Amino acid sequence: MQRKKIVAGNWKMNTNLESARTLANNISKALEQNPTETVDVILAPPFPFLGTVAGVAEEKYAVAAQNMSQHEAGAYTGEISADMLQSLGVQYVILGHSERRAYYGETNELLAEKVQKAIESDLVPIYCIGESLEERKSNQYLAVIEQQLSVALFDLSEEDFGKVVIAYEPVWAIGTGETATPEQAQEVHAYIRKLIQEKYNETVAEATSLLYGGSCKPGNAKELFAQEDIDGGLIGGAALKAEDFTAIIHSF
Ligand code: PGA
Repeated sequence: MQRKKIVAGNWKMNTNLESARTLANNISKALEQNPTETVDVILAPPFPFLGTVAGVAEEKYAVAAQNMSQHEAGAYTGEISADMLQSLGVQYVILGHSERRAYYGETNELLAEKVQKAIESDLVPIYCIGESLEERKSNQYLAVIEQQLSVALFDLSEEDFGKVVIAYEPVWAIGTGETATPEQAQEVHAYIRKLIQEKYNETVAEATSLLYGGSCKPGNAKELFAQEDIDGGLIGGAALKAEDFTAIIHSF
């Protein structure tokens, strides 16, 4: 089975209503002029602009939230439910981004609940994993990856696991301008695929889309995407410029 190629833009806490609309429009126009049939494009704007960005999509891209509550509904002030996202036309949700893990205390256990909730609600989770600089330096990065995968994902049934997209984002490469080399990224991606194969089977492992994230930009995307086990990217900074983002999409 041919796995999906995906380029997703994580806008983080950037844009306002006007600039979000402009950015979405510019990306949409660029994709109209230079369409891509082989790559699924996803935009992840901040919560308040999801409806607006979904409104200008015209099927050129899908929309993702950057986080979601594990709860169904009720007295959880300030939280956003899967059902709310669904009702806005959102199809994906980024879960476990390293900034959520580091600044908001999200653990693998909590993320297991969020992933489950997303799947139950027909939202595709883009589950993020990745090691810190110390963990890389002390050569523990593969163990960290294994833990992040096994606790949050490996209790899923084979069918449900098949709905998940995984993003490998080494924390030391996010927003730092320092990118993992294609070899470093490929090593971890191949390891992730091997773990999936051991836990489930080869068919599932081969069908899972694995995205790379961390200072991915027009200048390095091609080399990264050329790696056997890299099926696309989760883009931060470079996703805020329509030109850069579409150049990354067309790197495939
Ligand atoms: P970056 O962010 O591309 O700005 O490094 C990637 C991410 O955090 O998803």
